Amino acid sequence: MSKSIFRRKSVDRIMADVASGFSDSEHSGSHLEKALTTKDLTLMGIAAVVGAGIFSTIGEASFNGGPGVTILFVLTAITCGFSALCYAEFASRIPVAGSAYTYAYASFGELIAWIIGWDLLMEYAIGNIAVAISWSEYFVNLLEGFHIHMPAYLTMDYFSAFKAHELVISGNTAEITDRVKLAASAWANAPGVGSFKLIANIPALAIVVVITYLVYIGIRETKRATNAMVYLKIAVVIAVIAIGFFYVTPANWHPFLPNGFGGVMKGVSGVFFAYIGFDAISTTAEECQNPQRDLPKGMIYSLIICTVLYILIALVLTGMVNYKDLQVGDPLAFVFNKVGLKGISYVISISAVVATASVLLIFQLGQPRIWMSMSRDGLLPKAFSRIHPKFHTPSFATIVTGFVVAIPALFLNLTEVTNLTSIGTLFAFVLVCGGVLLLPREATVKGKFQLPYINSQFIAPVLFIVAVFIFRNQIVNLFSGENVHQRFPYFLFILLSTSLTVAAFIKKLSLIPVLGLLSCFYLMAELEYESWIRFLIWLIIGLVIYFFYGYRNSIIGKEQKTKA
Ligand code: ALA
Repeated sequence: MSKSIFRRKSVDRIMADVASGFSDSEHSGSHLEKALTTKDLTLMGIAAVVGAGIFSTIGEASFNGGPGVTILFVLTAITCGFSALCYAEFASRIPVAGSAYTYAYASFGELIAWIIGWDLLMEYAIGNIAVAISWSEYFVNLLEGFHIHMPAYLTMDYFSAFKAHELVISGNTAEITDRVKLAASAWANAPGVGSFKLIANIPALAIVVVITYLVYIGIRETKRATNAMVYLKIAVVIAVIAIGFFYVTPANWHPFLPNGFGGVMKGVSGVFFAYIGFDAISTTAEECQNPQRDLPKGMIYSLIICTVLYILIALVLTGMVNYKDLQVGDPLAFVFNKVGLKGISYVISISAVVATASVLLIFQLGQPRIWMSMSRDGLLPKAFSRIHPKFHTPSFATIVTGFVVAIPALFLNLTEVTNLTSIGTLFAFVLVCGGVLLLPREATVKGKFQLPYINSQFIAPVLFIVAVFIFRNQIVNLFSGENVHQRFPYFLFILLSTSLTVAAFIKKLSLIPVLGLLSCFYLMAELEYESWIRFLIWLIIGLVIYFFYGYRNSIIGKEQKTKA
């Protein structure tokens, strides 16, 4: 067993399966349509990235970190850059749907591939729950602008309303903000019996249903809708930067780090969430005209464009108002309102609705394609790889994704799902960077992306020693004080970075994936202990499913048994 759970699917075998059209999958005569070019992929990347993060979670991160949040945007961009290059390397070597899942199957073997497939569910489906909730918030505000009032109990989750109700009863006036008052009114007015109340986020459900339908009916329709939405949101983001620039008061940038580096790092989850998405386009590999050339370009271009926009937005945002005012759910609209530009604030709200809808679209597109790949390998039931004969989309998997996102979106709270999404995605990035280290080096092929090899033999140890020297006090402090167990993510990071430095020295590993792996794991270590625990529970549930279903039904596993 210990050997068979690490059975690998070779790159040649993966490519041969695609070429043969997966003769044993459902409706094998049907195929995905090759409709996407570099431009489409770049736009899809931007569509997936610019959304709830920059329109919403950046507010809390700026409140904690002050203008210094800009540093976090740079650090996160560098981290994502390393990962994007590793994704690009994989995408050009294994241009099939399935993203990191397929890559892990080729490099680490089946168990880790399963773990990553299960983990990507966290990035795409749980991430989309967060995006749907955020979409609903902006949408409801927009309706208010048109004087259309939805009852509050139909626009939020049960627990937020319940918590607000408790807070109001406790009489702790310091914490009773307008938001809390609204949630408490939702509780007070909701129909129901006793503490069983009908409180649910109906707009979040509705948008998921609409988007799932679009994704179901075809990749061309999805592409057209995405392109239109992206142009609008890029125009708005550029306008925010250009107009906002004239309202910047440089005094707001002082002090740059009001709460120190620690305050900045509190925003990791929110800022990283803003970058998630460039990797999602790798799930469309089988729908690209030339995936080996275009996918890497699409990922890297979209990441560069978003990074530039984000850094400028962070500077403008923290320059327009004092960072202490930014603890709001709609920071971009808020700052323009605050400087008296109500009209612009309104346009921003409209584009936030569009921007978050396009993120939903891409993730809703990606999730079924990962399931499709897992099902083709026998790790999930066959129905997940069924392709619609008319629409050429993974029909069953798309509908299941719709349910998996829409139902929890009715009931869950935004912050918790954002944290889970960030930790899950970082873990996927860690495995992709690690996977590249395991790939054998290949000869250069013209027209195909290849990660530049830089020998890390001496660079990694030097960087390690410099980092230990700079952070020596923080490292010593980790071992003292209370709740030492809550720092286990940092201990894991120290262990990993030490072992990787030794491996880099001995094996002359490629520098880019080594740095990618370390920087992603570092950001993971900065996330809350509670998120780690939830993440570990999620992984354990996944392992149980694997051993009860995937392990027994794996096609590679069955083939190996037949041969033996
Ligand atoms: N990056 C995506 C967003 O911010 C997930 O909505």
